Amino acid sequence: MRQWMIPDTDLFISSIVMGTGNFSVETEADAMRRIDHFADCDGNLLDTANSYGKLRTSDPNSAEQIIGRWLKQSSQGSSMMISTKGGFPPFEDLTNSRLTVDDVTADLELSLQTLGRDTIDIYYLHRDDPSIPVADLLGMLRDFRQQGKIRYYGLSNWSTDRVAEAIALEKKQVDKALLAIQNRWSLVRYNDRAAIDPTVVAMDWPAWELFKKENMAVMPYSSLGKGYFSKYLQNTCSMTEKLRRYYENDLNKHRADALKQLHKETGYSISQLVLAWLLQQPMPVFPVVGFSKNEQLRDAVEAAGMNLSFSQIEMLNAGETW
Ligand SMILES: NC(=O)c1ccc[n+]([C@@H]2O[C@H](COP(=O)([O-])OP(=O)(O)OC[C@H]3O[C@@H](n4cnc5c(N)ncnc54)[C@H](OP(=O)(O)O)[C@@H]3O)[C@@H](O)[C@H]2O)c1
Repeated sequence: MRQWMIPDTDLFISSIVMGTGNFSVETEADAMRRIDHFADCDGNLLDTANSYGKLRTSDPNSAEQIIGRWLKQSSQGSSMMISTKGGFPPFEDLTNSRLTVDDVTADLELSLQTLGRDTIDIYYLHRDDPSIPVADLLGMLRDFRQQGKIRYYGLSNWSTDRVAEAIALEKKQVDKALLAIQNRWSLVRYNDRAAIDPTVVAMDWPAWELFKKENMAVMPYSSLGKGYFSKYLQNTCSMTEKLRRYYENDLNKHRADALKQLHKETGYSISQLVLAWLLQQPMPVFPVVGFSKNEQLRDAVEAAGMNLSFSQIEMLNAGETW
């Protein structure tokens, strides 16, 4: 798999980033094998969070624990980069922010200790709190960087206005440290009104315009819409009520028709077409993908080498650009 440089940084990242939100202690052996496979395919960034594997705030950070064990025992551990996140709100009340310096410092220290690393390659604030000035939150991240605890930082689930402010503040700094934005985005358009968690932020038109103008790297999550199009087009029983609520809409019907036709014409799988569409956007995009099977990982790695024509992209757009 090809690796691309993030503009104005020294980081080369594989086209596909492996998500670890589905890692659990019960399936640890599978998760370990999947990371091995990802590394064998030249994948070099694992995306995790202090909150992954938890159902309650007091639960252990089990996804990071699994990654920590893999990093320790694998001969490929030293070349694998990690993005992790802190400041996730209390599970018991997602509207209650946890972004004080004390909260985030505690999360970061636990991540460093669990992963067995001195430095985190990319550290995201997992959520935003508009009542805290952007400058204060960036200042906190810069302090972590100065202390050598993180190399770069990112913002996850941040609105366009707040990201625009962050970019403007970053431009006043001599070295670039704001590396990427991680919001929800896929060819599968998400129904915002379906959100149970009000702090989730999905891509929209103003954000797409801003990232394009600023050539801002995006590492979108749920980049396959949790496999919605594959499930919809294959009419499988794994289509859940939750997926329907998230993704059933007119645009997705048109995009599904286009996918069906392109799949027939090209032989590419539905998921490959969805990922290729993201990878050919006019800003650097590194889709974060979750896998439950090794063949899904192979599919994604192949998508990284695909080239869709302009008219094929237009077909998938189905009248929209983002
Ligand atoms: N920053 C945030 O707030 C945030 C939020 C959510 C997630 N994330 C990150 O993003 C990662 C991915 O997110 P996600 O799991 O929500 O979404 P996703 O990557 O869109 O969906 C993953 C699911 O898609 C299906 N899939 C994967 N490859 C496939 C293929 N080749 N063919 C058909 N189906 C395929 C699988 O479903 P089945 O298992 O049903 O087969 C898989 O479990 C997470 O692991 C996490 O690292 C970040």
